[in-house]
Amino acid sequence: MPLVTSAEMFRKAYDGGYAIGAFNVNNMEIVQAITEAAAEVKAPVILQASAGARKYAKGVYLRKLVEAAVEDTGLPIVLHLDHGADFETCKDCVDGGFTSVMIDASSKPFEENIAITRKVVEYAHDHGVVVEAELGALAGVEDEVQVSAEDSHYTRPEEVEEFVSKTGCDSLAIAIGTSHGAYKFKPGTDPKLRFDILDEVSKRLPGFPIVLHGASSVPQRFVKIINEHGGKMPGAIGVPEDQLRQAARLAVCKINIDSDLRLGMTAGIREHFDAHPDHFDPRQYMGDGRAYIKEIVKDKIVNVLGCDGKA
Ligand code: G3H
Ligand code: 13P
Ligand code: ZN
Repeated sequence: MPLVTSAEMFRKAYDGGYAIGAFNVNNMEIVQAITEAAAEVKAPVILQASAGARKYAKGVYLRKLVEAAVEDTGLPIVLHLDHGADFETCKDCVDGGFTSVMIDASSKPFEENIAITRKVVEYAHDHGVVVEAELGALAGVEDEVQVSAEDSHYTRPEEVEEFVSKTGCDSLAIAIGTSHGAYKFKPGTDPKLRFDILDEVSKRLPGFPIVLHGASSVPQRFVKIINEHGGKMPGAIGVPEDQLRQAARLAVCKINIDSDLRLGMTAGIREHFDAHPDHFDPRQYMGDGRAYIKEIVKDKIVNVLGCDGKA
């Protein structure tokens, strides 16, 4: 089976009240961990590469690794560009075999966001590729771009119909209180997503797939392992998993997770070196990082996303 687009996955997820996990990939161990976990619980999966990932690993390596995972697991897998900054980046990925791209012009004025997104949609659709766009701005860091809490803003529901009809995008990322990275909410606060905004958006766009970025839950077990083995992560708080489950039951069809995988890899490697300071074979410590990522992804699929058995 070749790489697929997310069109059918999202239709089924919307109707079935679950979400597909979109996990960031940067190297072979991460691709293997995610897809082995997905295969064991028969889940469709989206593997996404950021600009930073493409710079680190090169797009062609990532595509070949993801194609190898398709061959290895037989799963329906989407290869998606995460946070495409401009038309050229999206075109490069369409031409390079990605089956889905995100154009993130959410920092631009509304009309400009529409114009850039429309241009990407025209090119991508001509090549059988689907497009995710974004309205609203999440706080946090993606690549070198840092959005401060003051500059972040929630999606305005009154803009979504015009945006989707004028751009023709296939899915829409919205800002309802999540943010990128491990430090989403201040320790001691009571993190709450704006389900009223999600509700208003989905009333205006019935049946349309919504995407949630910044959805790592920052499992405290892994923060603890990191800190017990020489790390220094101060009180990181992620999105509560019950709120992610609720979003998955509603119009949210794609949930983006990266930071939690980073925690898994870091916890595995730190723990490994503490137990075996004499080791220097990357297969040993990378293998432990891979095992933790696999555990995390399987838990997400079964206990948060609900897409197990849907492949
Ligand atoms: O949304 C951002 C993702 O976590 C990717 O992070 O740009 O550092 O690869 P990155
Ligand atoms: P996290 O930082 O919460 O994992 O979000 C990842 C993301 O949104 C990638 O686009
Ligand atoms: Zn994101």
